[in-house]
Amino acid sequence: AAYEAGEHESFMHKEMLEQPAAAARVLSGRLDERFGTAHLGGLNMDARETRAIRRVKILGCGSAYYVGQMGAALVEELARIPADAEAASEFRYRDPVIEPDTLYVAVSQSGETIDTLLAVQEIRRKGGRVIGLVNVVGSAIARECEGGIYLHAGPEVAVASTKALTNMFLGFSLLALQLGRVRDLSIADGRRLINGLSRVPEQIQEILDREAEIAEVASQLAAAESLFFVGRVRGFPVAREGAQKFKEISYRHAEAYQTSELKHGPLALVSEQVPTVAIVPDDELTDRNVGALHEIAARRGPLVVITHEGVDLGEVEASPNFLARIDVPRNERELDPVLLVVPLQLLAFHAAMQLGHDIDKPRNLAKSVTVE
Ligand code: AGP
Repeated sequence: AAYEAGEHESFMHKEMLEQPAAAARVLSGRLDERFGTAHLGGLNMDARETRAIRRVKILGCGSAYYVGQMGAALVEELARIPADAEAASEFRYRDPVIEPDTLYVAVSQSGETIDTLLAVQEIRRKGGRVIGLVNVVGSAIARECEGGIYLHAGPEVAVASTKALTNMFLGFSLLALQLGRVRDLSIADGRRLINGLSRVPEQIQEILDREAEIAEVASQLAAAESLFFVGRVRGFPVAREGAQKFKEISYRHAEAYQTSELKHGPLALVSEQVPTVAIVPDDELTDRNVGALHEIAARRGPLVVITHEGVDLGEVEASPNFLARIDVPRNERELDPVLLVVPLQLLAFHAAMQLGHDIDKPRNLAKSVTVE
């Protein structure tokens, strides 16, 4: 059957709501409860080759690059392999050093993004090993890679990517788990993560069920000309993705910053006119994050906090310009980003709806950038 928006006002809306089913698909048949690991037959790497990896380098563009940063954190945390992400559009132009013991990972929904494709070709020309995390089966990037993980998100039409990104994160979780389990990740930790991963689809659904409440919060942000999205460590790529989604469809200036860097400059811009959306999960950094919220509240900056139930925001919550807190369900800390990002999609979507914008085809943008 043709893929249509149906009763939804836009493809983006439909695709956000499809996330629980899409997430279940990317995990399906790949979780091994018995050995606490993932099965990724498409990687085409045996245990010996996998153990020989000394570094992981992730390449993608736009939101795929931000999810790549989340993926790098997962690889470092679970597999203890140094990992980082870079915009493929920059990498291909800077004559990068290609190392034989680095695993390169190209991440792309369409599999046709020219910058990512040419980065892959450059790595292969120099003898590097590249795998793909790609949604579209048989696409150019999928064909160029030596192996990979298909994302099974189904067709995605809206320019603003949602379900493909969720599945990219889950794809990276599976990769990190498999890399971890042939190295030092314990079976107990592996099982803990498998258990967490299997809860993700229903937890995304719990957030989607609160759409009306989040739409109310969006109406308080839609009027602002300029906003900050802040987070740190695991939360920073979440903030980047939140700002990206917001600017793509609401056309508001949305800037992502590390919460820790606010006092080194951008705090000068915080005022009653400039709201901040802060990512404050319950983790090792909660207290420090709450400290930064005090700084924002003291400058009368309106605040929306994406957090977990039970996180004590102290006096911040009673400050005059406090707008809302949105609690997402708890999972394993490493997996928090995939849940923290969902309210940010809904905030961007509802702000853009209230502003009367074309949700699926924002001005100046194409779904995939396939020409130079
Ligand atoms: C996502 O909302 C964006 N429209 C954009 O950043 C996108 O993620 C980027 O262009 C990469 O596309 P790809 O995943 O198809 O390679």
